[in-house]
Amino acid sequence: KSKKYAKAATKEIKTAGVIGAGIMGGGIAYQSALKGVPAVMKDIKQDALDLGMKEAGKILKKGVERGKVNNEKMIKVLSSITPTLLNDAVKDVDIVVEAVVENPKVKGSVLAEIEGVIGDDAILTSNTSTISITELAKNLKHPEKFCGMHFFNPVHKMPLVEIIRGEKTSDDTVNAVVAYALKLGKTPIVVNDCPGFLVNRVLFPYLAGFAGMVDEGVDFVGIDKVMEKQFGWPMGPAYLSDVVGIDTADHCTVVMESGFPTRMKRDESSAIAKLAAAERYGQKNGKGFYVYGTDKKGKPT
Ligand code: NAI
Repeated sequence: KSKKYAKAATKEIKTAGVIGAGIMGGGIAYQSALKGVPAVMKDIKQDALDLGMKEAGKILKKGVERGKVNNEKMIKVLSSITPTLLNDAVKDVDIVVEAVVENPKVKGSVLAEIEGVIGDDAILTSNTSTISITELAKNLKHPEKFCGMHFFNPVHKMPLVEIIRGEKTSDDTVNAVVAYALKLGKTPIVVNDCPGFLVNRVLFPYLAGFAGMVDEGVDFVGIDKVMEKQFGWPMGPAYLSDVVGIDTADHCTVVMESGFPTRMKRDESSAIAKLAAAERYGQKNGKGFYVYGTDKKGKPT
């Protein structure tokens, strides 16, 4: 079905801008550059830009070692990502994917700022995990040119991209964004708007159930082992929360509660909220449920 949308696209995406060079922004810029769409990657912190470039280099190096990528391609991909601290650098791109912190206020002002910089023809998207696209569009002059483009982590491995249609998103916008996702080698699905969209409306009740068990005193390492080894999932909920980012997961619970106050009631004293308050953000700062760093494979130690 996604091919149908792409076929109807009137705008081709040739250049991209990514706002936020964190776990997701860095991955999106890398994937775009890999598939021949040069990406400007903007952050407010030089450290984040450096880390984003380093991570892209690491993935490419692995590709070289496995014989999947040659040196020439590695250089081409890296030189197709332009790290920058300036909003102005995205003024000529065809699409912007916003990937800053999961906070409606911050996203609202970043999106309005970027809308003021990009050209009349450009498309604006948000990689938000949970925030309603219709709500985010309220700050924008052109909500018809805005939609959700929700990638999954790690971007270079996960095929799914949710394309979220807000109340005012135009068909042209959806078509062009689906076509861009396909160009990136992804599997886009077009979904309607509501907090959490499709995947996170399933995932967050699961994580809330897990956090509740930890609060009751069940060992999270044991839960992970059962879910991975016996149940067969690629990672258990504690490890998954560390990969996602405990801060991000915690922010998402705030948004989910606002959308589903009864079903998704936030528990301030849950393991995830407590770890976030203790600034144990997961793999991104070396400690979350697990402590990272001594195992070369990045596995929990
Ligand atoms: P992160 O914390 O790794 O990165 C966020 C980046 O945004 C940081 O580098 C920060 O410096 C930058 N930033 C903050 N304010 C900014 C601004 N005004 N302008 C430019 N850059 C700014 O977060 P992560 O995990 O990459 O998440 C980003 C977005 O992607 C969030 O909306 C999150 O919900 C969503 N997402 C996260 C997934 C995950 O597994 N971590 C999966 C799918 C979506």
